Amino acid sequence: MELRVSSRRIFRPLLALLLIGGAGVYSAAQAQTQPQAPDTMEQRVQGCTACHGSHGQGTDNDYFPRLAGKPAQYLYNQLENFRAGRRKYPPMNYLVTYLSDDYLRQIATYFSEQRPPYPTPAKPTVSNDVIARGKQIVLNGDQSKNIPACAACHGKALTGMEPAIPGLVGLHSDYISAQLGAWRSGTRHAIAPDCMHDIASRLTDADVTAVAAWLSTQPAPANPVPAPARSMKTPLACGSEPQ
Ligand code: HEC
Ligand code: HEC
Repeated sequence: MELRVSSRRIFRPLLALLLIGGAGVYSAAQAQTQPQAPDTMEQRVQGCTACHGSHGQGTDNDYFPRLAGKPAQYLYNQLENFRAGRRKYPPMNYLVTYLSDDYLRQIATYFSEQRPPYPTPAKPTVSNDVIARGKQIVLNGDQSKNIPACAACHGKALTGMEPAIPGLVGLHSDYISAQLGAWRSGTRHAIAPDCMHDIASRLTDADVTAVAAWLSTQPAPANPVPAPARSMKTPLACGSEPQ
């Protein structure tokens, strides 16, 4: 198996984990050309579960996101973004480099259909004022700064919208802040027009802390499925979400 030199230097410990965990993905990839080997979806995603949980529910690691129940097209777009370098996290970039579109689509569909329970919502570690500011931005936005309500696209229940807007419940606050930071700094890109880049750029550091804190304290609704496609008119155009 060939390693990219830059990945090896920067992420040696994580790659060690990947080589162990990733064995499932690679042997499954080989199994496609060698039909005598068993090939189930559970085996294929074995290399993913160390970081994303056995059913994509996430883990205690604050930076490893939940995948389960997010729209399949959203998950597929992210796998493609990692493969094309529009998102950067060397273990993810490396893992998907050799996987075909069809294979990525199947993995995306698998995780979108998983329904493991959500984690217990986080206890607030910031002041009530910060939590209140976060709630205000997520549910109502901030007109003075041209920030639309997050719920206008991610849904009132924050479970996202088909086909490509993810839910925001069940994520750690550190993961949410890191993603908003990545959009602001230009290390995460989505299909243009990249509405999240525009929105994240309008948030201050304090706003990011506030929305991440409030979101991470929210329980998932009883029926945590994404809203149907086109059930909300997004206030900005997003390349990944056709209107
Ligand atoms: C070494 C740990 C690790 C492994 C193994 C791993 N991931 Fe990830 N994955 C991550 C991290 C960390 C992120 C977030 C990276 C970032 O900051 O953008 C991520 C992000 C993702 C995302 C985007 C999630 C979102 O909500 O935007 C998808 C989809 C994904 N991974 C799928 C997979 C699949 C499929 C596999 C197995 C083939 C896999 N991952 C293996 C750590 C891992
Ligand atoms: C105009 C519609 C729209 C609005 C408003 C919006 N989002 Fe998004 N958001 C999206 C889309 C589309 C994506 C998927 C982008 C991609 O494909 O990477 C996304 C993705 C995200 C993600 C990545 C989730 C993950 O699992 O990695 C986070 C975090 C996020 N949005 C937070 C917010 C916050 C916080 C707000 C409010 C301040 C907000 N969004 C407002 C459309 C929107």
